Amino acid sequence: MYSVALAAFALAMQAQAVPFEGRAAPPPGVTSPAPVALPTNAVEIASSVITAPTNVDKLKALLTNSSGDVLTGDALRAVTVMDYNAYNQPAAGTGGSILVGSPDIFPFLEAFDISGGVCFFKPCGLNIPHLHPRGDEFLVVTEGQIEVGFVMENNFATEIHSQLGLFQSTVFPKAAMHYEFNPTCNNATFAAALNNKDAGRSDLITNFLKFPDSIVNVSMARPITIGGDNIDEWRQFLPVNLAAGVDTCLQACGLSVPTAGAIPS
Ligand SMILES: *[C@@H]1O[C@H](CO)[C@@H](O)[C@H](O)[C@H]1NC(C)=O
Ligand SMILES: *[C@@H]1O[C@H](CO)[C@@H](O)[C@H](O)[C@H]1NC(C)=O
Ligand SMILES: *[C@@H]1O[C@H](CO)[C@@H](O)[C@H](O)[C@H]1NC(C)=O
Repeated sequence: MYSVALAAFALAMQAQAVPFEGRAAPPPGVTSPAPVALPTNAVEIASSVITAPTNVDKLKALLTNSSGDVLTGDALRAVTVMDYNAYNQPAAGTGGSILVGSPDIFPFLEAFDISGGVCFFKPCGLNIPHLHPRGDEFLVVTEGQIEVGFVMENNFATEIHSQLGLFQSTVFPKAAMHYEFNPTCNNATFAAALNNKDAGRSDLITNFLKFPDSIVNVSMARPITIGGDNIDEWRQFLPVNLAAGVDTCLQACGLSVPTAGAIPS
């Protein structure tokens, strides 16, 4: 018995010795699951499911055909699988791309109180300061490394800053302002879960600037002008570490530092 246990232990150690090799490509004879497109009629599906009186009714509506049989094959995967691969193609001139699920694009969520997203960063990419009005967020780094920060609220308005390596994770409170930043010259990726099927997102600066000039002006301590030519005046009101970090990262990676108003390329 003892030797059998030892042999099993030795096998386990052997298996651990090559933990990463299997991740890039499946072994011979094993094919990767096929891509899944987001349903084009997702809103229609979600709208029909939302009126179902119980969760069982919602799942039956989503997962069975009109004869009451559970869907199979591609038809089943089209409902149960959200595929982020197609979103790993950031538009030119952006620092990366992100997609977060919600019932209007992934109707399966209509039967749950959770959603999730994947964020792909290019070098020095920044997921700009934002908040999720209806969900706490739990994220785990799945490629590279990132830096994150959040500020809770008045009376605890201190930046809580974390550095996350591969497969390290952290949490952001619901409605707390936060950002994620890739401080390296390589790509980075995180996957996140949010405890609401429709957590929402509000970009802070973008949406703050929706208020009238006069309101913005007073709130920003009345800078003489508001525009690209006084970006440093703006910066003193923005998270200092982040602004410096972005410029420093771009320079270190040999990427051009954008002039005011431009997006890093
Ligand atoms: C429902 O699925 C079952 C099992 O796959 C199949 O036999 C049946 O024809 C399907 N019904 C409809 C209306 O598609
Ligand atoms: C980085 O990500 C881009 C997509 O944004 C991809 O085209 C490129 O191959 C990735 N580079 C590496 C080294 O993985
Ligand atoms: C902002 O306030 C300053 C100081 O009162 C004033 O000079 C400037 O014109 C104001 N700008 C706007 C857009 O209201």
